Amino acid sequence: MEQTFAIIKPDAVSSGHTGAILQRIEEAGFRVAAMRMVRMTKAEAEGFYAVHRERPFFDSLTTFMSSGPAVVLALEAPGAIAGWRALMGATDPARAEEGTLRRRYGSSIEHNATHGSDAPETAAFELGYFFRGLELVR
Ligand code: CMP
Repeated sequence: MEQTFAIIKPDAVSSGHTGAILQRIEEAGFRVAAMRMVRMTKAEAEGFYAVHRERPFFDSLTTFMSSGPAVVLALEAPGAIAGWRALMGATDPARAEEGTLRRRYGSSIEHNATHGSDAPETAAFELGYFFRGLELVR
């Protein structure tokens, strides 16, 4: 069993798609191991996306991620990291396959509805950034 970290981003929350995305998550076979709504500060978003701090989109991305409430999740399934990335689709909604969450709910590469960890090391960092260990106990 594997855990990954997911965010329903502020664009998807504000457009009223939280419930639909959670339904897709559960129908796809993930167990929601932990979940919370958060309103990140700019500094908290900068800490979360620190690996991207040299990228030209860093300021815009962290302003967006701190612009309103988001839902943070720990998802559990066999192969959860790859499985969640497949359900989300490509980072850019315009390139994401039909039927994926970003294709359906994203509107730009920045406002792309969802986030997911890309590897076990990032999942460990990202889960730990938002959840205490005891929230992740099965
Ligand atoms: P996410 O999976 O949250 O990881 C980093 C985010 O940076 C990514 O989704 C996009 O929302 C954003 N991002 C990646 N590339 C670009 C880009 N070229 N321009 C703007 N935002 C980007």
